[in-house]
Amino acid sequence: MEAKRKMTLNQGSAPHDLDELILVTRSDEETRELGRAIGEAVDAPLVIALHGDLGAGKTTLTQGIAAGLGVTDRVTSPTFTLVSEHPGRDGIRLLHVDSYRLGDSSQAAQREARTFGMEEILEQAEAPALGPGPAVTVVVIEWAERLADLLPPDHLAIHLEHLPDEPENRLLRLLARGSRSRALLRRVAQAWTPRRAEPL
Ligand SMILES: Nc1ncnc2c1ncn2[C@@H]1O[C@H](COP(=O)(O)OP(=O)(O)O)[C@@H](O)[C@H]1O
Ligand SMILES: [Mg+2]
Repeated sequence: MEAKRKMTLNQGSAPHDLDELILVTRSDEETRELGRAIGEAVDAPLVIALHGDLGAGKTTLTQGIAAGLGVTDRVTSPTFTLVSEHPGRDGIRLLHVDSYRLGDSSQAAQREARTFGMEEILEQAEAPALGPGPAVTVVVIEWAERLADLLPPDHLAIHLEHLPDEPENRLLRLLARGSRSRALLRRVAQAWTPRRAEPL
């Protein structure tokens, strides 16, 4: 089996495409900054699947991603709608999905999500669209664990966790699931390392 390329951010720059990046943020602002680096690195359609408990920082990270995508609207959790749409830079649009209120089991959530057209939403992040309207769709999903079977094979999974003792510290694991997300992760690591080269 091919060795996985993995790095933590005290290992210097990332010359190759990456499968996994692990880092700690120490404030909500820092999580937003990481999100911004991700958003700025996007140049193709993509699904970003966020995993983590309530308060882990999924919406905070999404706000940073939105900023990096050039979104100027306010981004909050789409509480009453499953998905909210935000126009960004260069023909990019952000679709922000929050699966929190879907059915209580993952089965039920996925059934409901299908009824709401989630498969069509995710398909739009497969390839650039032709014709008028936004060319590049980026879908960010909060509570992505509930929609696991619907996610496309190539996506960027991000797991956020509280760390014990320090209320403002979060451990983030970014996992690339295919070639597009691997290339993106390399660009994120390159952009982020010089700014925040903190040992874990
Ligand atoms: N390092 C950090 N990263 C993200 N959020 C943090 C961090 N430290 C503290 N927070 C706080 O934790 C909360 C995260 O909330 P939110 O982003 O809405 O989480 P979620 O969407 O996962 O439920 C916010 O109140 C934020 O200010
Ligand atoms: Mg949220």
